[in-house]
Amino acid sequence: MAKPKILVTRKWPQETLDRVAQVGDVTFRDPDTTMSHDEFMAAATTYDVIMPTVSDKIPAEFYPAAKGTVKILASYGVGYNHIDVDAARANGIAVTNTPDVLTDCTADLAMGLLLAAARRIGEGERETRAGKWEGWRPTHMIGKKVSGATLGIVGFGRIGQATARRAHFGFGMKIVFQDAWDVPDDIKAANGNATQLPSINDVAAQSDFLSLHCPGGADTYKLINAEVFGAMKQGCILVNSARGDVVDEDALFDALDSGKLTAAGLDVYHNEPALDPRFLSYENVVLAPHLGSATDGTRAAMGFRAIENLEAFLAGKTPRDLVS
Ligand code: DGY
Repeated sequence: MAKPKILVTRKWPQETLDRVAQVGDVTFRDPDTTMSHDEFMAAATTYDVIMPTVSDKIPAEFYPAAKGTVKILASYGVGYNHIDVDAARANGIAVTNTPDVLTDCTADLAMGLLLAAARRIGEGERETRAGKWEGWRPTHMIGKKVSGATLGIVGFGRIGQATARRAHFGFGMKIVFQDAWDVPDDIKAANGNATQLPSINDVAAQSDFLSLHCPGGADTYKLINAEVFGAMKQGCILVNSARGDVVDEDALFDALDSGKLTAAGLDVYHNEPALDPRFLSYENVVLAPHLGSATDGTRAAMGFRAIENLEAFLAGKTPRDLVS
C-alpha cells in the first residue's frame, strides 16, 4: 500500500497524532465525539485503515461494506468488545489492540475505587464541600476495613494480576480469583499469593471485595448477575473497572437495596456515558467516568502502540498485538 488512507476517529494526545501523520494520508476526525453509524458506513468505503477507540460502536453492516477497502482496524485501547472480531475476520479485516501499556494505571484505578468505596471518600467529599461536616466524632462515616480483607478477582489476566499485587503486597489483602485458564503456581505466587477457586460464586462467597477484570462482550455479558450477588458474602463491595455490560445493573441495584452489597466503585456502565439515573441516588456508589487508562503518558503510550501495530501490518509483518 503506497500511502494508506487512515482515519483516526478521536482526538489522541498531540504527540501521537504527530507521529501517525507520518504513516500515511491521515484524516483526523473532528469533533471529538463517538463515530455515528453513518460515519462508519461512509468510512467503510473510503479508508484503508481505521483507528477506532473503545467508545466507537462499530455497526454490523460496516464489516461487509468495508470488505476489500478497510484492511485493518488498529484500535486504540486494550478492550475490543466494540469490534466484532469474527465479522472482521470474515471480511478480511485485521484487528489489533493496545495491551500492557495501560495495565498499571487501570489496576491503580481499581484500587482507587476500592479504597474510595470502602472508606466513603466520595460521600465524605460531598459532605465536606456542602459545608455539612460537623467535625470529628467516633461514629462518623464508618467505612469498611481494607487491610487484611479478602479480595476476589474475576479475570486473572494482566490487569487482574496487577490489582492482586497491589492489594496483597500493599494492603495485606488475601487474594482469591476465578479465571477459565488453569493458572500456574508461580504466577499465583508472584501475583499476591493468590488462590484460584472453581467458580465465580465460590469467589463471591469468600470475598469482602470483588473486583472485575474480565473482558467485555458476549461471553461475559451480565456475568455478575442475581445468582452471583446471591452467593456473595453479606456486605461485600463491588469494583468494576472492566466493562459495564459484565454486570447486570438491575441485580446490582437489588443487591445495594438488600444490603448484600454495602458499596460499589464503578468506572464503567452498560450504556455509557448515559448512566442509568438510579445510580445517582446511591451515596455509597462511587461513579467514575471510564478513567482506567486516563493518565499522562498512558494515553500517549496507547497511541504509539496502535501505530506500532499499524506500521508492522503495513510492512507485511505480524503486528505485536494482532487480535485477529
Ligand atoms: C481499554 O483500553 O479497553 C480501556 O477501557 C480504555 O482505557
